[in-house]
Amino acid sequence: MPEPILEVRDLVKHYPLTRGILFKKQVGAVKAVDGVSFSLAAGETLGIVGESGCGKSTVARMLVNLERPTAGAISYKGEDITKLSGRALKAVRRNIQMVFQDPYTSLNPRMTVGDIIGEPYEIHPEVAPKGDRRRKVQELLDVVGLNPEYINRYPHQFSGGQRQRIGIARGLALRPEVIVADEPVSALDVSVQAQVVNLLERLQGELGLSYVFIAHDLSIVRHISDRVGVMYLGRVVEIGTDTQIYDHPTHPYTQALLSAVPVPDPGARAHRERIILTGDVPSPANPPSGCRFRTRCWKAESRCATEVPLLAVPQALPPGPAAHPSACHFAAEKQVVPLPGELPPPPAPLTKE
Ligand SMILES: Nc1ncnc2c1ncn2[C@@H]1O[C@H](COP(=O)(O)OP(=O)(O)OP(=O)(O)O)[C@@H](O)[C@H]1O
Ligand code: SF4
Ligand SMILES: [Mg+2]
Repeated sequence: MPEPILEVRDLVKHYPLTRGILFKKQVGAVKAVDGVSFSLAAGETLGIVGESGCGKSTVARMLVNLERPTAGAISYKGEDITKLSGRALKAVRRNIQMVFQDPYTSLNPRMTVGDIIGEPYEIHPEVAPKGDRRRKVQELLDVVGLNPEYINRYPHQFSGGQRQRIGIARGLALRPEVIVADEPVSALDVSVQAQVVNLLERLQGELGLSYVFIAHDLSIVRHISDRVGVMYLGRVVEIGTDTQIYDHPTHPYTQALLSAVPVPDPGARAHRERIILTGDVPSPANPPSGCRFRTRCWKAESRCATEVPLLAVPQALPPGPAAHPSACHFAAEKQVVPLPGELPPPPAPLTKE
């Protein structure tokens, strides 16, 4: 196995809960991320899925160093970047960039597209000397399928899909090797989603990028990912290749998520088993003991309240696609749904806008 480009070990982010106005006293912590581990190979796409509030964005922000972890390690090409500071940190950060969810709020409305895309060069002038920046920005506009002559326009003059292309161009400005995309298409119309996903896939091939791709939509994640990690309440509960996760899920939470995906084919719909998740997601400030999913799990037994299930290949499973890491004491395959491998609308060819 080649060395992963990015490796996350036992990553933790706790936000302190305080009480009092003058004398703030810590009374607890929101355990937003609580022991997450995964690796990302060069050129690979790792999808991360899970319900709202499970800690996906917090992981993303720590990967790009917008937030410092409470504990754990993030290694880039074997070096723990959480231990770096100053110039060494700045050099590494250049290689891991983020694309944000909402292209309507993440672009400064008072800046031109050229200034937005070229802003990272202010911090890293070594990538593009001043006299060369305009040309570099125009090149980036071209790469993401926008007209290079739009360089002096403002964000409000673009559609949602075009704005997300601008966000992607900005993410690419420093020629990173890893892109962390946090729900990059969730705010877009379904018809535009496919175009942006296609663009990301094309750029990956052309530029040899590695992606961490976060999304709610399970069919989009399957479409773009080589491997998928499923998160629940601050932890990864199951991880494997797209075939392992979608066709051979063994964790009850993954099975429940997949059973909620709409199936267009009535024949397939008749054969599927639906698992309805009951109850609310517990508060990350006070997660259940043992297995965090136990308050909503239809398979829970007394052991689940006392023993934390580790994310490992369950010994009881026979060799084959079901034998992949799953954090459940009773992990077992269950056919919940034959998921279409494609995005809902057929991917539209990329046209220059
Ligand atoms: N700065 C903060 N202070 C306190 N709690 C926070 C902070 N940021 C996030 N949280 C909490 O941490 C948990 C995880 O949040 P996060 O935004 O990572 O979830 P998410 O999986 O990205 O959700 P969504 O799908 O809604 O974007 C949530 O309970 C959230 O309220
Ligand atoms: S460990 Fe127990 S509660 Fe947790 S997912 Fe497995 S069966 Fe359900
Ligand atoms: Mg989020």
